[in-house]
Amino acid sequence: MVHPIAHRFAGAREILDEIDARTRDTRDHGAETRTIINTYHPKRLRLSVSEVINETLTAKTFRLVMSDEMGVPPFLAGQYINVFADGTSRPYAISSSPAQQNYYDLTLRRVPSGRISNWLLDNVRVGQSLDTTGPMGTFHYNPLFHGADVVFLAGGSGVAPAMSMIREIVDRNLDRSFHLIYGSRRAADVIFRAELDEVAAKDARITVDHVIAEPEAGWTGTSGFMTAETIESLVGDLDKRMVYVCGPQAMYPYVLEQLKLLAHPRKRIRFEANGAPGDPTVQPNWPSAVDPTETVTVTVAGTSFQTLRNRPLLDALEDNQIRPEAACRSGECSLCRIRIVKGEVFTADEAKLRLSDTRFGYTHSCVAYPITDVEIGI
Ligand code: FES
Repeated sequence: MVHPIAHRFAGAREILDEIDARTRDTRDHGAETRTIINTYHPKRLRLSVSEVINETLTAKTFRLVMSDEMGVPPFLAGQYINVFADGTSRPYAISSSPAQQNYYDLTLRRVPSGRISNWLLDNVRVGQSLDTTGPMGTFHYNPLFHGADVVFLAGGSGVAPAMSMIREIVDRNLDRSFHLIYGSRRAADVIFRAELDEVAAKDARITVDHVIAEPEAGWTGTSGFMTAETIESLVGDLDKRMVYVCGPQAMYPYVLEQLKLLAHPRKRIRFEANGAPGDPTVQPNWPSAVDPTETVTVTVAGTSFQTLRNRPLLDALEDNQIRPEAACRSGECSLCRIRIVKGEVFTADEAKLRLSDTRFGYTHSCVAYPITDVEIGI
């Protein structure tokens, strides 16, 4: 049968032939192809904790290996795996180097609102198994678009993907300069301090500056916040450099504002969203007449429950033992997509919705808040 677009434009026939040739293997050898794809891009992994490293008083690194002693599937520095725990899941950036394939290191820090991070820090021991996804995420270096001279602004455990990128530069002897500006509350909170300072002292490609918000007496480095002035004084002209940003939620609007003051274009900033907005009402489009602390009714597949308007729908569903697929929990991966059958939701700016999502009533439940009674389809 002739394909309907075969005669629509010059070259259409050749394009269709090429698509056919390139997909023939997948079609004719489906099972083998799937096995190979699953090996390199597994949807689920069962990993075993081989080591727990105390990084600071509030941060630990969990070293995870494959239970069957195979190497772990490959990843790109900056990617995360999603860890299933306590009835939900959370994404954690891998801090180890992609150059070694025996384990993933996940570095977590205790924070007041970090329910799952704190649960893992308190409960996970050597020898325990954890269920995770395979490596995911788009917050990684791209040699075609990111240039060879990058800047990374990190806060707290947001240093994890930077550590992975630095380790890769060293391990693979990459031709790339990397300037890390790492903000912490106190000097004692700096994760990987010894390794960062050592690599920066030895390797001309790596520069590390610590910015301490509440320095103790005797601190001689930079102090305060990551203001435009501080960024400029440490990295000089940002020019066409790619700037990565990773840290706690509150860091993003602040740092974006500082980079704006430096006239750095938005397209040269990559940030890793870390969870749903803590307070959706501060977003510019939150309907001001809506009281976020009131409850509404959510109905899904004939079941109804009450939830607060300022609770992300994904969290509300999980509270009620309904578990849609999810990974990034910050609006990016689209795995948690749901359809709004009835009612109104507020979707945070973080959601990377497609035009068709908006048109046909879909949203990303991890960053969507029910502002009226709603009925949803999953
Ligand atoms: S979990 Fe990724 S978009 Fe919601």
